[in-house]
Amino acid sequence: MNKYDETLSELAAKPKTWLITGVAGFIGSNLLETLLAANQKVIGLDNFSTGHQHNFDQVNELVSAEQWNNFIFIEGDIRNPETCVKACSGVDYVLHQAALGSVPRSIEDPITTNENNISGFLNMLVAAKDARVQRFVYAASSSTYGDHPDLPKEEDKIGSPLSPYAVTKLVNELYAEVFEKTYGFKSIGLRYFNIFGQRQDPQGAYAAVIPKWVASLLKGEEVYINGDGETSRDFCYIKNVMQINILAATTDNEGASNQVYNVALNHRTSLNELFHFIQDKLRARVPELKEMEPVYRNFRAGDVRHSQANISKAEELLGYQPTHVIDAGLEEAMDWYVQDLT
Ligand SMILES: NC(=O)c1ccc[n+]([C@@H]2O[C@H](COP(=O)([O-])OP(=O)(O)OC[C@H]3O[C@@H](n4cnc5c(N)ncnc54)[C@H](O)[C@@H]3O)[C@@H](O)[C@H]2O)c1
Repeated sequence: MNKYDETLSELAAKPKTWLITGVAGFIGSNLLETLLAANQKVIGLDNFSTGHQHNFDQVNELVSAEQWNNFIFIEGDIRNPETCVKACSGVDYVLHQAALGSVPRSIEDPITTNENNISGFLNMLVAAKDARVQRFVYAASSSTYGDHPDLPKEEDKIGSPLSPYAVTKLVNELYAEVFEKTYGFKSIGLRYFNIFGQRQDPQGAYAAVIPKWVASLLKGEEVYINGDGETSRDFCYIKNVMQINILAATTDNEGASNQVYNVALNHRTSLNELFHFIQDKLRARVPELKEMEPVYRNFRAGDVRHSQANISKAEELLGYQPTHVIDAGLEEAMDWYVQDLT
């Protein structure tokens, strides 16, 4: 049995209370599904700024009525300190996902991104510390590597941030570190690379590349690639993210705490390759889709050229063993998108 399966069976024998912030979003609602399916008690907090009720409806259908009854939802905002205090009460583990994602959004509106991602984060950190939760696991970001040229990325070699969003995620890490030094409060940051999977929102100006392209291809609309398509990313399937969150929250390895970890596969895929993978998988499911070529346009401000993660730290300290390479993840995700979007 691997570390993750072992942990899930320990949790099943002795359920814990988890707080998921950003629970109505993509990663948050997947965490909700995973934890409810493992018979855990879950408190969820979200203000629906980018999350959706329909994500809850889907999770509700995927778990039993008894498991769904283990979920308490607080509609509220992490920018309100009292809401954070209320949400943290009686909680064992916090999985803090709430934030405004997207580099372009942060360039257009750095103040709102700052309020949500820094002030909101600090409110959560204080509330979790005061509630003496056992561990605070938070969504950090690969954007923290900024302009550092090395590949694959190693956790302790970061450059300067390239966007307001990246600044906010770096500040989160600094606060987490200072809370350990000044209050002895234990947290773990997960530097997500490009995560994809079911319930990732295909709508809106700030949608991530995979759901955006899938929606366009299914509608027969043009797909735009920013730059020459040789920009690359370490795309990571959502199920690997579930695994590392649960391992990080529950680890009894003292040395694993107060650290940040890359969450990825250590595999790089260019946007051109990705486009063809997605198109092929969709046409295998919807044969009447006509074959298209992408439309190339200018590079986007704030984007890094290549991204790939060394994941050995998470493997060694947390027992992280990604179960889904990009192809297996895309297979599962495409089934879901075709069902959801057609
Ligand atoms: N998806 C990725 O590839 C990726 C990569 C790096 C980091 N991240 C980080 O992971 C986390 C989750 O991202 P996601 O892709 O699930 O995004 P998402 O937009 O689907 O989910 C974020 C959720 O947080 C909620 N939220 C935002 N501000 C809030 C506030 N002030 N109070 C309460 N709730 C609030 C939103 O309504 C939404 O439900 C974010 O912190 C994001 O920055 C994601």
